Amino acid sequence: MFKIQTLNNISVAGLERLPRDRYEVASEIAHPDAILVRSAKMHDMEIPETVQAIGRAGAGTNNIPVGDMTARGVAVFNAPGANANAVKELVIAGMLLSARNIPQAWHFARELSGDDAAINKAVEAGKKQFAGFELPGRTLGVIGLGAIGVKVANVARALGMKVIGYDPSITVSRAWQLERDVEAAISIDDLLSRSDFVTFHVPLTDQTKHMINAERIRTLPKGAVLLNFSRAGIIDDDAVVTALDQGHLYAYCCDFPSNLLKDHPRVVTLPHLGASTKEAEDNCAIMVADQISDFLENGNVTNS
Ligand code: MLT
Repeated sequence: MFKIQTLNNISVAGLERLPRDRYEVASEIAHPDAILVRSAKMHDMEIPETVQAIGRAGAGTNNIPVGDMTARGVAVFNAPGANANAVKELVIAGMLLSARNIPQAWHFARELSGDDAAINKAVEAGKKQFAGFELPGRTLGVIGLGAIGVKVANVARALGMKVIGYDPSITVSRAWQLERDVEAAISIDDLLSRSDFVTFHVPLTDQTKHMINAERIRTLPKGAVLLNFSRAGIIDDDAVVTALDQGHLYAYCCDFPSNLLKDHPRVVTLPHLGASTKEAEDNCAIMVADQISDFLENGNVTNS
């Protein structure tokens, strides 16, 4: 019998891949063979010596001490691509709601009061105050051309946008495959200088931390919009707020609220919702449960 500890709620669709006659699965369990985790931060946790594998039901692994675990011989699995559609949909929503000032306009409409004549007068004012702009002909810069970045690029093209991409780790053959749809930028700065919107789909690492800082924001055209559905920390939020206040950036849509960002009138923050759909949660849980069982039962290491 293998013992699996779950550190977060893991979708039932995934847990069903671990038959009860061979797996005991619980949030509290002595001597686990493996851990399934979603967003729980494991860096300060005591990870039992019996653990042979950790499965992250998501793409990023920055909540897991991967280096320490690898040194201990613990296999770390993740679920790349399994939630890509969910993230893509929210990025596109973020682009539309930023361009059309939807959250601000919605708050405005909710606050309306008075008789119909007063409301009609306010509506006229709102039409002017929240007028936005359209996407066709605008350029989307996609930094990181993995599963999510490519999906976002495809929808953006269907919406009539021009797409340019940058990914320092992309292989030549993959770049060639993408070439038809996504023009490759030669550097981050090249991409920024030509983008009306920029979306980030790279993991948080020492190399990507604050990859967007005050200097890089100045490279963007005036009126650009930043979309961060990747990780807090990729973008220097202080620099973003300054650029918004100075009118250099039009809007910032970000899946990571903070005290600095949450009340800013040109910022829309969401509570890390990118992967929060039933479909994505099921897909991620199924992928990591299969990886963990294949590892424990057959010693196979897929996507570690
Ligand atoms: C991811 O890395 O894919 C997301 O953080 C998943 C999640 O929201 O748990």
